[in-house]
Amino acid sequence: MRVVCVGDCGIDRYLPTGKHYVGGITANFARHARSLFPAADEIAVIAPLGNDPEATAVRSAFASSGIDCHFCELDGATPVQYINVREDGEKEFLRYEEGVLRNFELDAPEIELIADSDVLVAPAYLQIARLFDGLMQIRTNGTICIDFADFAQHPDFELLERHLESIDVSFFGLSGNDEETIEKLAAMARAQDKLIVVTLGGGGSIAFQRKRRYEQQALPVDQVIDTTGAGDAYAAAFLSRYCHGAGINEAMAAGAARAASVVQRPGAF
Ligand SMILES: Nc1ncnc2c1ncn2[C@@H]1O[C@H](COP(=O)(O)OP(=O)(O)OP(=O)(O)O)[C@@H](O)[C@H]1O
Ligand SMILES: [Mg+2]
Repeated sequence: MRVVCVGDCGIDRYLPTGKHYVGGITANFARHARSLFPAADEIAVIAPLGNDPEATAVRSAFASSGIDCHFCELDGATPVQYINVREDGEKEFLRYEEGVLRNFELDAPEIELIADSDVLVAPAYLQIARLFDGLMQIRTNGTICIDFADFAQHPDFELLERHLESIDVSFFGLSGNDEETIEKLAAMARAQDKLIVVTLGGGGSIAFQRKRRYEQQALPVDQVIDTTGAGDAYAAAFLSRYCHGAGINEAMAAGAARAASVVQRPGAF
């Protein structure tokens, strides 16, 4: 099985300390996926990097990771996410500098790799809209999995309706307060025969497929240190099971277990 992850690899910079880790939804997902999918599966990453020290940090985090890296070096800055971690360990995304991601477009060999994938995984959010649009135009017979990462801030149902037809599994990081959004997502899953997974931080996760609703509690943890990347870890574990034929309950349990280990450590990976 060939899993192709397309999107953002960059740096998570924690304020006020300035401490930093390699991060980005795609970077986090790919590294978790590499250790969760069977070794026989291929994990590939396609992402733009700048020509700055941040790019060097990303490259070295992926060196000898066993991931097939297709980093495209562009003139400009590697994406940086500024994060504050609250006293209770909950992340707050402060500001995002997307740098070279803004104008990144896929070239012919990258499109071919994507078209040949068995599983395609990518994030969708405001600053990556151009890449996402390009991605949605590629025909592939594989399973298409999209993390609608900023849906809590910008519930763009128009974008979702436009593309849901071609997406197999979609992930949303929301909160218990987003009841109305969750209801609408459930209705879309019913109408379009799609699998929609909603993670709710410490509130666990829910999934909708056709008329069915699935629930998974967050696993109890000793201490929440940093919830950054919990959703990416969850998605990687979920798909490592689901794409190999497991049922939704089993996939959700795997997601919660991996995410629980991530929230107990600083950094997203
Ligand atoms: N405080 C917590 N305690 C235990 N488990 C947690 C906690 N926060 C998150 N999790 C686990 O991680 C999963 C995903 O978390 P969350 O909904 O925060 O993802 P997210 O907002 O997409 O994260 P990110 O965008 O940083 O990757 C949850 O469903 C839960 O299983
Ligand atoms: Mg997320």
